[in-house]
Amino acid sequence: MTAGEDNTAALPRIFLITPTYDHYSQAPELTRLCSTFRLVPSVHWIVVEDAEAKTAMVKNLLHRCGVSHTHLCAKTLRNKTATNYAGYHKGVEQRNYALDWLVANLTGGNKNINPEKVEQEGVVYFADDDNTYSLELFENMRYTHHVSVWPVGMAGGLLVEKPIVDNQSGIVTKFNSMFAPNRAFPVDMAAFAISVKALLAKPWARFSLEAKSGFLESEFLRNFAASWAELEPMAKNCTQVLVWHTKTSAPDLTNEKKAKKEGHPASTQGLDMDY
Ligand code: UGA
Ligand code: MN
Repeated sequence: MTAGEDNTAALPRIFLITPTYDHYSQAPELTRLCSTFRLVPSVHWIVVEDAEAKTAMVKNLLHRCGVSHTHLCAKTLRNKTATNYAGYHKGVEQRNYALDWLVANLTGGNKNINPEKVEQEGVVYFADDDNTYSLELFENMRYTHHVSVWPVGMAGGLLVEKPIVDNQSGIVTKFNSMFAPNRAFPVDMAAFAISVKALLAKPWARFSLEAKSGFLESEFLRNFAASWAELEPMAKNCTQVLVWHTKTSAPDLTNEKKAKKEGHPASTQGLDMDY
């Protein structure tokens, strides 16, 4: 490549699907993701708000971010009385709506399209808003043929939850997951990507609201792979941690409450909270 030449159009596109919801850490979380995704060439960020309507805050944040994006909304169908139904899983309706959008966009709405004929190379990754992503993760997943997998830091109650790869064959032979280890694919949402071709071969595949707690990812992956041997290990045969299942804690608002009680204005007064 010569100086000034832009070859990003030639790179397979990474479609990042991020559910997000209204809470105090939402703006900082989306800002953090923006700061990372801006550094990744050839990405399209699909942000789905868990809301009845799209908010000005998210709209403006995405606009200012400058990353190629689609802004959608899909409200979670809460059912707080059920134990293994909606409300138990987070981000399901949002990811599924993003998949609807993506499939419709890639196929132009033609349900009988032959995936082999689709020009679109690329990969789909479910990037939750509170995780921490290294830039190398994206270059690892970019050339996924079917379904790729890798370790995730601080997931599943472990320092690292990971596939274990046989050095000779390069095949995933085990997982170290301690949580429901008998799952067909005992991985976290952050641990895998699927190619656009794989998705378009099963354009109806979605996350199931009926999945038992912790089985969301495994049940979804069963649509795309029948065995561990079909998984493509990334991150140097799953020996590197390139993504962490970080979590944000609720902010300490003791003094915000105290100020209110004492009649002081809210600390947000005078600020443009949609900016
Ligand atoms: C774990 C997994 O890593 C998630 O991928 C999985 O969806 C989730 O469990 C689950 O099934 O419950 P965890 O860190 O506990 O994740 O979940 P969050 O990060 O709080 O939520 C996952 C995604 O859903 C986030 O992008 C979050 O913004 C979004 N979310 C969360 C909503 O859209 N609505 C909510 O009410 C809560
Ligand atoms: Mn999370």
